[in-house]
Amino acid sequence: MIESNPRLIEKSIKYGLPDNLLDDIDSIYIKDSTESTNDNAKNHLKVQKALFSVHLAEQQTAGRGRNKRKWVSPHGKNIYLSLGWKSKLLHSQLEGLSLAVATCLISSLKEFSSQNIQIKWPNDLLINKKKISGILIETSDSQEGLDVVIGIGINVHMNESEGSEIDQDWGNLEENHLNKLDRNKIVQSIISKLHELFKDYPQSGFKKYHHTFESYNLLKDKLCKVEMDRETFEGKVIGVNEAGELLVEKDGEIRHLRYGEVSIREL
Ligand code: BTN
Repeated sequence: MIESNPRLIEKSIKYGLPDNLLDDIDSIYIKDSTESTNDNAKNHLKVQKALFSVHLAEQQTAGRGRNKRKWVSPHGKNIYLSLGWKSKLLHSQLEGLSLAVATCLISSLKEFSSQNIQIKWPNDLLINKKKISGILIETSDSQEGLDVVIGIGINVHMNESEGSEIDQDWGNLEENHLNKLDRNKIVQSIISKLHELFKDYPQSGFKKYHHTFESYNLLKDKLCKVEMDRETFEGKVIGVNEAGELLVEKDGEIRHLRYGEVSIREL
């Protein structure tokens, strides 16, 4: 069988998307190489008129992850996607947003993999405990509301040497390298799911996504080690609440953890 790996093409991404969605897209920008698609989305938001814009690249030279980590971004293998959303959200709605985005993302990726994809709170996606995708949300206040950049990185068919710099267990979405996944189709599905989120989330909040999130929650019912600035403890994860906080039971007491304040791992 001949291996083929279609490059990212605007027409392929748009093909089949409904008019009501296309009307809400400002533009789809695809670069061969860029520093970070999150920066491109952030800059574009300053002049953006429509609800959202889409920024993609075949390669990032300064891809960013959460907690100031580098996001390894080799050419042509993975998905580096950022959506710039002109939102009317309140700052208080951001905690749950990150988990709601992870829930939409997993629904999309499940269309392309038969493997058991799970979410490690708050928003890492894993297959067999190996990270295949991460989300970086960045915001800035604007005159009309809150500008939100949703940055998504997905390892699709990166090889060992390309990923050698990654300092945690990682994997790919693709199961069979002889049957290359078309990244255009994956991006199309994600855009479609996130468009629904842009419409629903401002009213529904994380509540609408809560049940689905829990069904993919890797840490649920697991004994974990929690590390905070001034404290480290062990406890059992009960689940997440409707605000997106992780609930951990320690000595009969339920602790509410907010992401950004903690790191957690299974024991
Ligand atoms: C994480 O640390 O898990 C979040 C990773 C987010 C990576 C994506 S790739 C597209 C966008 N551009 C960036 O520089 N980062 C995000």
